[in-house]
Amino acid sequence: TEVVLGIDIGGTNTKLGFVDREGNCLVAATMPTEALTEVGPSKEVELFLQRLYSTADGMFAKISDTCVMKGIGMGVPNGNYYKGTVEMPPNLNWNEIVPLASILEKHYGVPAALTNDANAAALGEMKFGVAKGMRNFLVVTLGTGLGSGFVVNGDIMYGADGFAGELGHVTVNPEGRMCGCGKVGCLETYVSATGIRRTVYKLLADHTEDSEMRRISFDDLTGEMITEAALRGDKIAIEAFDYTSKLLGLKLADTVAITSPEAIILFGGLTRAGAHLLKPTHKYMEQYMMPIFKDKVKLLVSGLTGANTAVLGASALIWNELDKRPQL
Ligand code: BGC
Ligand code: NA
Ligand code: ZN
Repeated sequence: TEVVLGIDIGGTNTKLGFVDREGNCLVAATMPTEALTEVGPSKEVELFLQRLYSTADGMFAKISDTCVMKGIGMGVPNGNYYKGTVEMPPNLNWNEIVPLASILEKHYGVPAALTNDANAAALGEMKFGVAKGMRNFLVVTLGTGLGSGFVVNGDIMYGADGFAGELGHVTVNPEGRMCGCGKVGCLETYVSATGIRRTVYKLLADHTEDSEMRRISFDDLTGEMITEAALRGDKIAIEAFDYTSKLLGLKLADTVAITSPEAIILFGGLTRAGAHLLKPTHKYMEQYMMPIFKDKVKLLVSGLTGANTAVLGASALIWNELDKRPQL
């Protein structure tokens, strides 16, 4: 069987899968994206590559009897499809321009391509998920950061330099929170797993209301815990989701005015909060939307959370490239 290696590099975890042409993932694994202790940026990249090679090699050993690896596709924060580079991702300590596609091509001797991680999720949804058959939609990934992949007229929107679609870094509050990208008040400082943690801490400081989250230190509190707390009815957690949803809905309404999508697909851990996220986001989106668009845009949740839509999308990306490029 011919397979490709699909890789989804996230702010916290990196997911890998060997995937065949039909999108079947034959073997999958997850590894931490960053070293446990702080090391310098170039060391960080070097250690990442070591972990990646040993994880991928271990995975491939399980299928090497029957499979041949044809290429590598990746979804990466601040990934540039045109250049195959990763350029200073806000939530990673990679403070330089890393030519990741060519590094992997050299190491494995097969073609490699990369795109932004949220673009990879959009490709996965278009090929295998809820966006099948749609030509205009966007995927918003709610993880360590906030990513977005815009599909316009059937194609990923890349723009002039290949970075188009950075919804996480549009400004919601010019006097707001510091962002990892170097700006202030970016959407992802509010709407992401890390953003909602910051909101919870602010709410806990401003209110006397009891909450199960009071007993957890900021470093230990995760987006998952806030989700669980909301599902159990914790008032602070529910209020944090409402505030998060308000800013998300506001900016989604803006994107509707710009690209007129058929649907907006949310992806990532925070979507497990279900109605606590979806209902208010939909309400605020409609509230802030230009009247001509009202009641037309579907707000959906990725149906592929188990199979990892970004790994499948990254593999779809390289299958497409392999079909375009002369075989090596
Ligand atoms: C990065 C995006 C990425 C998103 C999710 C943001 O901080 O700028 O490129 O898609 O995080 O990982
Ligand atoms: Na994008
Ligand atoms: Zn930013």
